[in-house]
Amino acid sequence: MSENIILIGFMGSGKDSVAKEISKNTDLTFFSMDDYIVLREKRTINNIFEESGEEYFRKIEKEILEEIENVKNVVVATGGGVVKDKKNRETLSEMGKVFYLYTSLDALKQRLSKDKTRPLIKDKNNIIKIYNERMKKGIYEFAYEKVDTSKITPEQVADRILKISKIETKTEEKSIEVYKLRTETKEYPIYIGYDILRDSKDLNMELKSDKVAIISNPVVGTLFLKETEKMLMDKGIKPLSCIIPDGEKYKNFDTIKKIFDTLLKEKMDRTSGIIALGGGVIGDMGGFVASTLKRGISLIQIPTTLIAQVDSSIGGKTGFDHPLGKNMIGTFYQPDMVLIDIKKLLTLPDKEFRNGMAEVIKYGITHDSELFGILETKQKEITNRDIMLLKDIVSRCVKIKKKIVEEDEKEEKGIREVLNYGHTIGHIIETITGYSKYSHGEAVATGMVEEAKLALKEGLLSNKDFERIEKLIERYELPSSIPDNIKREDMKNYVSQDKKVRKGKIRLPVPTGIGKIVFREVECEKFL
Ligand SMILES: NC(=O)c1ccc[n+]([C@@H]2O[C@H](COP(=O)([O-])OP(=O)(O)OC[C@H]3O[C@@H](n4cnc5c(N)ncnc54)[C@H](O)[C@@H]3O)[C@@H](O)[C@H]2O)c1
Ligand SMILES: [Zn+2]
Repeated sequence: MSENIILIGFMGSGKDSVAKEISKNTDLTFFSMDDYIVLREKRTINNIFEESGEEYFRKIEKEILEEIENVKNVVVATGGGVVKDKKNRETLSEMGKVFYLYTSLDALKQRLSKDKTRPLIKDKNNIIKIYNERMKKGIYEFAYEKVDTSKITPEQVADRILKISKIETKTEEKSIEVYKLRTETKEYPIYIGYDILRDSKDLNMELKSDKVAIISNPVVGTLFLKETEKMLMDKGIKPLSCIIPDGEKYKNFDTIKKIFDTLLKEKMDRTSGIIALGGGVIGDMGGFVASTLKRGISLIQIPTTLIAQVDSSIGGKTGFDHPLGKNMIGTFYQPDMVLIDIKKLLTLPDKEFRNGMAEVIKYGITHDSELFGILETKQKEITNRDIMLLKDIVSRCVKIKKKIVEEDEKEEKGIREVLNYGHTIGHIIETITGYSKYSHGEAVATGMVEEAKLALKEGLLSNKDFERIEKLIERYELPSSIPDNIKREDMKNYVSQDKKVRKGKIRLPVPTGIGKIVFREVECEKFL
């Protein structure tokens, strides 16, 4: 896929319009730094300047660059002053190809004369002063290329940038797959397509309510909130948004309470609905709130990470963490609809993408040898986020998860547990290392190799298949062995405390071949 495009330039140089134009014609997603700051701070840029001053603004500007530097396939409209800082300039250069939109002072004066939204130029003489200052310091010089925007339209500027950077034009992939998930409590559609929110006419969405709250976080909100709002407005709904801080460490009761507070203040009632727009953290919390607010309101999942698309958005498990453990409080609550947009996977940081690939590999090992084969032969294309391959992969995983959920909705029949392959050892690694050193995907990847080793030792899995599993995990840059700093003895202690242990034995799903999985009772002693 392409490299990020970063637009810098004086206020009024057209960074937003040009970035939107580039995004319209390519697979890059528009990312406005100002939008991000507004969502994160929950105040307008003007208010931040007035209430906290420019110094504070520059400080958070620096912080946010660190928060977004790993986002991929975006065209970034930067804030006008971000390039004043040397470290920021370095970060921007590392993030992608930087284009400087130059504008003459005359053109700027004309463009900015009616603009009342910009805090730094309330006094018009300030424009000249700041302009001259920045020019003198040469703070735009680090750009990869300069484009003079003084006499041309944003469309023409975008066109020039596209030619210089040789970015491919937008992928035309319009087909939408629909799967119906049927459980005892509900039947709902799962849509899978590319850029499906932008043109949602084909989505047969029957929203039962006209009061809808979108729950998201600053980064996902900056990327996708506007298009989600537009989709709803096209259907006659004016949504409200509830932005919560990013990360697993906020998946707790404090955040849940804040969401309840917001939604109840907005007088959401039994006919209202929630859209969970984000990864598994947002999906699990949004789902929990939907399942309990007024004893249950409608819920749409729009998963934006690979984990969320292939796993957490489907199947109705909701919840949040407690200091005594992950996902300690939750409900089973099926959504009314899941909208899977493959385009969302393009902006994921590599680390998050790899995390999701661990779960995809899991489905290949447990259920789908063809998927496993695709992962083996097309590793390069998949890592480069080939859209058609991603769509095929996500569809395969969704079909597997759907079938399992239909057979064992509430994990009561011992069927849904097959999805725990790799997770027993994975969870132990996560617990011993305090949920910080290894991501869930990394821990599960190691867990899958270790649990396959168990099958190998028991004579259930051939050497050849074991090696295929180990090699595939390594090819996706996931760890395949237990880190040296974790003692096997410590892990054994954790296994014996596992709630699945009965009379010194633990029941586990283990692979007997690629795409084949069985449950086995294994003595804890033999486990590691
Ligand atoms: N309910 C279930 O069945 C189930 C299954 C698996 C996992 N989970 C839960 O899911 C959570 C993990 O999910 P996750 O891995 O999606 O984590 P996450 O929701 O924290 O997302 C990972 C990171 O990616 C960012 N992000 C999300 N979408 C993006 C996009 N399109 N572009 C760029 N950045 C994006 C997020 O802001 C976040 O920083 C855990 O809390 C886990 O317990 C639940
Ligand atoms: Zn998992």
